[in-house]
Amino acid sequence: MSDGPTTGASETESRTWSNRPVLAAAVRAALFVAPLIVGWLAVRLTAPHFWQPDQFGIIAWIVQAVVVAALSAKLVSQATDRCLPLTTVLGMTLVFPDHAPSRFGTAPRTDNVKRLLDEQTLATDDTQRAAEEAVAMVAALGRHERLTRGHTERVRAYADLIGQEMRLDDDELQKLRWGLLLHDVGKLGIKDGILNKPGGLSDEEFEIMRQHPGISAQIMSPIRMLKDTIPGIRNHHETWDGTGYPDRLKGDQIPMVARIIGVADTFDAMTTTRPYQQAMTLEYVLAKMRSMSGSRFDPLVIDAFLAAIEQGDISPPARETQLPTPSEAS
Ligand SMILES: [Fe+2]
Ligand SMILES: [Fe+2]
Repeated sequence: MSDGPTTGASETESRTWSNRPVLAAAVRAALFVAPLIVGWLAVRLTAPHFWQPDQFGIIAWIVQAVVVAALSAKLVSQATDRCLPLTTVLGMTLVFPDHAPSRFGTAPRTDNVKRLLDEQTLATDDTQRAAEEAVAMVAALGRHERLTRGHTERVRAYADLIGQEMRLDDDELQKLRWGLLLHDVGKLGIKDGILNKPGGLSDEEFEIMRQHPGISAQIMSPIRMLKDTIPGIRNHHETWDGTGYPDRLKGDQIPMVARIIGVADTFDAMTTTRPYQQAMTLEYVLAKMRSMSGSRFDPLVIDAFLAAIEQGDISPPARETQLPTPSEAS
């Protein structure tokens, strides 16, 4: 595949959304220009009915024009704003475990987080509909979590390759792929001021952030087709030595899906630039992750991850900044 951070993933077209940056940019440009054009047209059409400059002066004429343009542009932008989620959805590269929902069906569902979090909406036996609702949440998260945009897609790509390297059976791969897509949707329940805070979090804020795996699992619980995936979502921040959260599971108690997401999650966190850290070099990240095999990570998963790296299947996004000091990589 040409888009995204990895190469070599086997994907069938019918289960894949490929990033459509040109179309997304064209839609965004059209949505931006439409209110301006309508505002200009409205002034042209209504100008003969204005008070003319020779009655009340040029200032009065300009005020009328500005009011007409602004009101009509506002009305149109209220309508075009509803199409904005389509640009987000078009900008995503996602691989689906089974059902690839329609982008045009998904986009309108992304702009109302409150509705997305409604259990009644999610409790559906229609798998196509459930897939659309679930992916709408991923798209909504892409907007809500501005500082780590693209994280879900990258983690999806990395962990999918680890799963293939470990030769997981189809059932486990299905669980893994849905778990990957949805592991962080609980961040939709974390306030913008904490989620997108530049710099470090206070202890209290960090405690709130640590609630997101539980919230992800809770949000997804009404989707019946995800029943077996939910433990993997809930436990993706557990660590092999039992010091993780939220349930302090240890070793084999941690669902395999969660162990794999944990490795992919950490790799992405260390190889991308964030407000509180610079992206680290691949060499440094690999050495650090290798050193955490058996403490933070399942050794089997780390071995599969390193094998995928060696084969060149996994490559991080280009680093924008220089190597930080080792103490920054905690
Ligand atoms: Fe997470
Ligand atoms: Fe994550």
